Amino acid sequence: MPPFYFGVDYYPEQWPEERWAVDAQLMAEAGFNVVRLAEFAWAKLEPREGKFDFDWLDRAIAILAEREIRIVLGTPTASPPAWLMQPHPELFRVTQDGRRVTFGNRREYCPNQPLYHESTRRIVNALAAHYAAHPAVIGWQIDNEFGERCYCETCAHAFRNWLRARYESLDVLNEKWGTTFWSHTYGDWNEIPLPLSSGGSPNPGLALDYFRFVSDSYIAYQELQLDILREHCPQHFVTHNFMGFKYEGLNYFDLARQLDFVAWDNYPRTQWNMQAEVDPANAALAADTMRGLKQKNFWVMEQQAGSGGWDMVSVTPRPGELRLWAYQSIAHGADGILFFRWRSARYGAEEYWHGLLEHDATPGRRYQEIKRMGGEIQKVGNLLAGSQIKSTVALLYSYEARFAFQVQANNPRFNYADQFQQFYAALYHQRVPIDIIAPDGDLTPYRLVIAPALHIVPDDLAARLERFVYSGGTLVMTPRSGVKDEANAVVNQRLPGILAALSGVYVDEYDSLAPDMQNELEFTATDISSDHFVARIWCDILKPTAATVIARYTQDYYAGQPAITLNSYGTGRVLYIGTIGKDVLYETVVPWLLRQAGIRSILTAPRGVEITERWRDNRRILFVLNHNGHPESVPLDRSYHDLLDSGAILENKLVLAPRSVHILVEQS
Ligand code: GAL
Repeated sequence: MPPFYFGVDYYPEQWPEERWAVDAQLMAEAGFNVVRLAEFAWAKLEPREGKFDFDWLDRAIAILAEREIRIVLGTPTASPPAWLMQPHPELFRVTQDGRRVTFGNRREYCPNQPLYHESTRRIVNALAAHYAAHPAVIGWQIDNEFGERCYCETCAHAFRNWLRARYESLDVLNEKWGTTFWSHTYGDWNEIPLPLSSGGSPNPGLALDYFRFVSDSYIAYQELQLDILREHCPQHFVTHNFMGFKYEGLNYFDLARQLDFVAWDNYPRTQWNMQAEVDPANAALAADTMRGLKQKNFWVMEQQAGSGGWDMVSVTPRPGELRLWAYQSIAHGADGILFFRWRSARYGAEEYWHGLLEHDATPGRRYQEIKRMGGEIQKVGNLLAGSQIKSTVALLYSYEARFAFQVQANNPRFNYADQFQQFYAALYHQRVPIDIIAPDGDLTPYRLVIAPALHIVPDDLAARLERFVYSGGTLVMTPRSGVKDEANAVVNQRLPGILAALSGVYVDEYDSLAPDMQNELEFTATDISSDHFVARIWCDILKPTAATVIARYTQDYYAGQPAITLNSYGTGRVLYIGTIGKDVLYETVVPWLLRQAGIRSILTAPRGVEITERWRDNRRILFVLNHNGHPESVPLDRSYHDLLDSGAILENKLVLAPRSVHILVEQS
């Protein structure tokens, strides 16, 4: 079993060489055993075309290796050098409004350019050959945070080939996209346009296919690098740093498929969310999603090390928060954590993205906090690394749906991610382990599957959902499910389309509400709640065919009509929630669902105290995290050893200091 990897992202090229040994010593003192290097260093590694300079990197690695620090190398393709880009304007990405980006940032490249591919092969081949046999190097990160859609002529050409492979004939494409609408019939593949924003509303089929195509383009570009790395370095792992749950430009399930494991970047508090309070459910959702991409533990390749900032500086992490957030990542399945970044940069766009060390290299409060954690990881790391999370609840996550809603939001306030998050948070507050699964994921381990806004439902998914429910599972559905076919055309069936029989209900009519409108619902099933709940954004007016009505609208012309129904199917059930509520609706329905499905909380605790578990074979490891800025107390169901407190024995209750972390194992 590999050790737990604990370390930092380091940019030796940004600091004088005399400093490197001091840095390595401080890293070793913090208990670091891994460093990521070089993911933005293309211009230093290949200062001119075909002229490589790896000497400086060799020297940096040698200094780190002396301290037993292992190396993850980044392929430097996210920030290409000026000598490559400036003479070739075609290499620059074109944005959706048709403008070509210019040099001076990063991620400027189009993923479909032959010259970019050739240049990538050259640098990645050289790096991989040079470091294949290096004893300190353990793995690779390809590129950095793939993303950004390109709309250039080369992409248009590649898109048309992609469409040919998908539809084979123009007749099929014309039919699937319904191109008789507005005279869009194509007689030649080259007539097919790009879905540019300047052109108004494109055909939804074309737009969705374009998003799929861009996603596939990055996956192909990643594969180009992956093949080289696998060939030279079969003994090294290869990963990429993903961007959590928020990022919605690529199909992350597809991007993860060929990698050894997923790594991701976790910044709970940045300049983009300048609030006093951090909602810990957000990072939890991101982490569970990243674990779900391969149903496998992950690394956090960039874990927040200080306030974030480009032009603005974000709120400084409070004492204890960096350690708490890092342990939260572990509590959700991290087997490796690297902090971003080692020392705060003095130059460049990220001067205010603070590292563990201050700009002047002082190892201050943040360094000391993580050094303390490093000491702890040296004690518990081996127990944690590779231990598993087990869950009987899953949220079904569809990038296809997310892409389709980017094309047609349906309502200005409707947001797939928000709807998903509301369910996630309600489960999170019940302290049950949660898996995030792909539409083609295995449903058999679960008792409860929530599939918010499952907009596009391929036949085989419908069949698997049916089997899941038939054999005893509970499925939860929401508005805008089963609306579209795979070409993003509206189905020719009563909604929820292919899922109507399973849910025992159909949508008789729907109402997309203006921001200043709302309805209300009331449960008829009083074991759920006797309160009234706000219904907002969207109201499906339901007609049961087999289902039982469990809530009705109370207002407007559909007062008294069904809003939520429950259907029995085989030995399982389908709950159809026909509207979007405020958080309290989900916080009411979810505990009821869990009770019905016989799924219990790991422990009960006050709000703000997060509890998760990992399993090392049959040994349960509990994580108790107090995200609150005040002390809390958690009643215990048996006696435990507190591993971060020298194995102290705890009985009856655990008292938590503000922002504290406890790792408990049952007393044997
Ligand atoms: C990440 C990125 C890093 C750095 C960091 C702070 O998204 O991978 O290179 O930019 O954010 O902005």
